[in-house]
Amino acid sequence: MDRITNATVGAGMIRFALRRSHNIHWQALDVTREARAAAKGQKPAVVWFTGLSGSGKSTIANLVEKRLHAEGRHAYILDGDNVRHGLNRDLGFTEADRVENIRRVAEVARLMAHAGLIVLVSFISPFRAERRMAREMMPDGEFIEVFVDTALEEVEARDPKGLYAKARRGELKNFTGIDSPYESPENADIHVRTAMLSPEEACDLIVSSLRETGRLSA
Ligand code: ADX
Repeated sequence: MDRITNATVGAGMIRFALRRSHNIHWQALDVTREARAAAKGQKPAVVWFTGLSGSGKSTIANLVEKRLHAEGRHAYILDGDNVRHGLNRDLGFTEADRVENIRRVAEVARLMAHAGLIVLVSFISPFRAERRMAREMMPDGEFIEVFVDTALEEVEARDPKGLYAKARRGELKNFTGIDSPYESPENADIHVRTAMLSPEEACDLIVSSLRETGRLSA
């Protein structure tokens, strides 16, 4: 209604509520996360690898998973390139899409940790706010941020997928480190300087840190 003339200016009918989680209630389940983890003889954790494309996140995560697997631990890698082939294949690389990419993978990591797994997440995850959000979704001490720190000049020189060259030629927009920002962690739990450590040494550092902080004791 126009409040001055009282004339009707528009009309509509409510067909359904837009608040999508309004009528959804949490379903209580009897097998707890503690029971699931205890059945696997381990404590759940989310080890979150962040760093530029080509920094070595997935190479190191893969070595850590192999090491844990050989020890009889139950671990699983969520890798950006792979998850973007399935669950997140509708997402691109705008800021909004990256935020949604990280929100979804953080939720999946939380479910997997709930199932008792040690989850290794390997995503550029360029924004501090989303990494903080992922940390806050996990109980204290269960989120371990690993900064795979490789200089832009180095990843650009390696350029294993030829993507930096494409981005420099202007054929690939919103490329992290070129025309899309990467916000380095200020307080990572583990800082891997790849100029100083081989992937194997980085793997040793991460696995010993998990052991020292009690994540690997049953
Ligand atoms: S994130 O920023 O949203 O966390 P994610 O880890 O899922 O990124 O995906 C990064 C991978 O996508 C890179 O390793 C690279 O192979 C590929 N890629 C394609 N386009 C881009 C882009 N514009 N920026 C960064 N990575 C890209």
